[in-house]
Amino acid sequence: MEKSKPFYFVANWKMNKTFHQSIDFCNQHKQHLDSLTNENNRIIICPSYPALAPLATILKSNSLALGAQNCSAHESGAYTGQVDATSLAQIGCRYCIVGHSERRTHCKESEQCIADKVACLFNNNITPIICIGETAQERDAQQTEKILEKQLALIIELCKKQNCRYNQLIVAYEPVWAIGTGQQPDITSLKKLFVWLAKHMPEATLLYGGSVNPTNSKILANVPYLNGFLIGNASLDFQKLKKIVESTLKNSRL
Ligand code: PGA
Repeated sequence: MEKSKPFYFVANWKMNKTFHQSIDFCNQHKQHLDSLTNENNRIIICPSYPALAPLATILKSNSLALGAQNCSAHESGAYTGQVDATSLAQIGCRYCIVGHSERRTHCKESEQCIADKVACLFNNNITPIICIGETAQERDAQQTEKILEKQLALIIELCKKQNCRYNQLIVAYEPVWAIGTGQQPDITSLKKLFVWLAKHMPEATLLYGGSVNPTNSKILANVPYLNGFLIGNASLDFQKLKKIVESTLKNSRL
């Protein structure tokens, strides 16, 4: 953890909460979540598209931030069913997840498509949360760094072209085999990997995702250069999310 940077808790609800469930969650828990948020800790809620606009209103006077789970790789045009970054910005989204492994797998998103989405987000002042990570097979073949390098190459090129600084980027390392499985990398390898990532993407904010829960969050939060979590399953349950935030604060911030 870099003490000079805030620590991020990104709740990726995927397609698990309905429109009404998302609204009820935020109405019920916004005050408590707000009290856990300060300049050192940022909580970002990422519901599915339909809930974004009502949540922007519910969370308006709150310090909780809103993120989308995806956006189009195009600014506008004949792309039925897609959602443009400009509209996301207009309703108050300050963050957007891109390149999640579920989209890379199910929607066959290419590196170019992901880089185009990042460009659209930059143009609309939305901070991209770029997901990268290797499969179990790639890990076993000791290809992790090579895979991550490939996943980051076009993003680095884009930053150079647009003269963006890496500090405008959030990169979430999510090993595919750790997502939703209860497995996690051993701490020694994770520490090594975050040192590598910090060298490769200096100044970017680096998150870890993959089966983060109230028990492992304490240990994970102490990995150097790690400045937050992308949380799937555990973020659906308010008590678990709260415990993750509190345990991380107790462990490292006080
Ligand atoms: P998980 O999901 O916490 O349920 O493993 C993380 C993610 O996919 O972002």
